[in-house]
Amino acid sequence: MNQQLSRPKIILDTDPGGDDAFAFLWLMSLVKKELAELLAVTSVEGNVNAKLTFTNACKLLQLNNFSDIEVGRGVIKTQKEIDHAAHIHGNDGLGNLAQTLPSPQQSYENARYSDDILIEKLTAFPGEITIIALAPLTNLAAAETKSPGILKQAKEIIIMGGAFNVAGNVTPEAEFNIAYSPEAAEIVFNNSNHLVILPLDVTRSLIFRPEMAQKISEVNPESNITQFILALAQAMTQTSLSHRETQGIEGFLVHDAVTLAYLFYPETLQFCRARVEVEVVGKLTPGKTIFDRRHHAKIEANAWVAQQVNSANLFAAFVEDLKTLVRY
Ligand code: BDR
Ligand code: CA
Repeated sequence: MNQQLSRPKIILDTDPGGDDAFAFLWLMSLVKKELAELLAVTSVEGNVNAKLTFTNACKLLQLNNFSDIEVGRGVIKTQKEIDHAAHIHGNDGLGNLAQTLPSPQQSYENARYSDDILIEKLTAFPGEITIIALAPLTNLAAAETKSPGILKQAKEIIIMGGAFNVAGNVTPEAEFNIAYSPEAAEIVFNNSNHLVILPLDVTRSLIFRPEMAQKISEVNPESNITQFILALAQAMTQTSLSHRETQGIEGFLVHDAVTLAYLFYPETLQFCRARVEVEVVGKLTPGKTIFDRRHHAKIEANAWVAQQVNSANLFAAFVEDLKTLVRY
């Protein structure tokens, strides 16, 4: 098949974020190989505030010589259910390494809002765009609210979020990206049937280990990207261990990277089709994602939900692709 015709057009919606940064780097490696086209990055508040996630997204693009890609500033959610996640990702969102990266060329104050960029691109390329959503769904919900029906114009919306048959990571039942704004998640779940959901059920086994960073670094120890990968992996490993995210195994969870595995290495994942919903009210369970597992006829499924991941194969692809990124 002609790659130029089939390569996905992507909008990356993200809140970098240590694991967002690793997903970012994986995507950059695939864009450099001309396996994907990155149309825009829509940043959003989540792991840290909106200005920091915007700045981090710009810096990550610049580090990889993609500074011409437009970055949107996140729509601000006025009512916050839960706090940012600086205790995991560092006060700057990037393991306190943001100052080691190139200064952003785009300005937060002059940037367009992320929902406007989503609306513009989805209108320009109906049915063609894959949205990779690595963060609270605030931007996507805002786009749908401003332009009803717009999310149906996406080819696919790939979401890292939710927890179905496992404990949550910010409350006993809920996962961070969904719990940050259950209302936004509800809008997205109710307005697209082309969702792919990668929940904690699969990402909890994705521990990126120091020896993987080491293997990548050996290809080109001097490169700026290598230095960043090593330092970020080290910083994330420390916070992850102290928050007991990896059962004491040295490393950290690259939750967001699994979205790229779905798109480019789908043989690493298994899915079931379901109607996914989210709890928006309730004392103990806001942000809990649910689908009906009872065995009776159902209609109106909206999502493919990942059930299992082959982490060895996923990491084999991840490490090899990152090697090609740092090689040049
Ligand atoms: C998700 O929450 C964030 O902290 C991570 O970047 C990831 O997107 C995991 O629950
Ligand atoms: Ca994220």
